[in-house]
Amino acid sequence: MNLDAYAAQSDVLVTLEDGVLVLRFNRPEKKNALNAAMYTVLADALNASGDDPAVRAVLFLGGEKFFSSGNDVQEFLFNPPRDTSHPVIRFLEALATARKPLVAGVNGFAVGVGTTLLLHCDLVYAAEDARFHLPFVSLGLCPEAGSSLLLPALAGPARAAEAVLLGKPFDAPTALSWGLINAVCPSGQAEAAAREAAAALTRQPPAAVRASRALLRGAMPEQVVAAIHREAAVFVERLTSPEAAEAFQAFLQHRPPDFSQFT
Ligand code: COA
Repeated sequence: MNLDAYAAQSDVLVTLEDGVLVLRFNRPEKKNALNAAMYTVLADALNASGDDPAVRAVLFLGGEKFFSSGNDVQEFLFNPPRDTSHPVIRFLEALATARKPLVAGVNGFAVGVGTTLLLHCDLVYAAEDARFHLPFVSLGLCPEAGSSLLLPALAGPARAAEAVLLGKPFDAPTALSWGLINAVCPSGQAEAAAREAAAALTRQPPAAVRASRALLRGAMPEQVVAAIHREAAVFVERLTSPEAAEAFQAFLQHRPPDFSQFT
């Protein structure tokens, strides 16, 4: 794959390291909030990795203190997705249909898509300070990235309801007990654990990994893409709702939202 094509897009650092395509979120001034330009790089790199024999695993990394604060809230207001051609949907489809194993190393908070992208990963290593949060409903929105299907399937409907409907954050031991991650690592060691797992994947016979991964996933990729599209239709509608407008304004004005007037 042509890494030079991604070099100018510095908010996602794309490197190929010993057979591992490393995608590192690098927008610290916004706590690694993901915007359309970043989704484009992520989608293109993931799609390109599928056909590239030099890539045997893909590794998602964030910062030392935070993985990602989720979708850029400013973009929800000023450059929202209007249909499935938006880069965010291209990225989510690329995630759901990825042909190489996906690994992630998580430090600090993983908000919104920072958490839901992990549901697509084969192997996730989180630091003991990692904190997961799905604030979609609290923002007047709805779950995305296929999480309305994946989260209840992985964690069970009761836990999914608490995380989604109440928007209740959960910590790394909880994520481990729900089966969302592989291990809770001592602070500062999640990236090393994820790198080690990705490196171990590169030493496995690649065709056997691909075939076995496809078997483990079964019919999931098609079902998840269908869920992504179902969710996107509701999400796009919710983005222009008065509830979402109140939530976004409250975020930008650093005040708690007030939903008491809504029916
Ligand atoms: N989109 C856009 N900007 C974001 C952002 C996001 N998702 N998350 C953080 N930022 C910005 C803040 O507006 C702030 O910008 P400023 O310095 O220009 O004011 C900067 O990043 C630092 O954020 P701050 O809130 O001061 O950091 P924190 O460490 O106190 O809190 C979070 C970190 C992630 C808990 C908090 O920023 C947050 O809740 N962000 C929103 C998460 C969210 O709702 N994401 C959408 C999910 S669908």
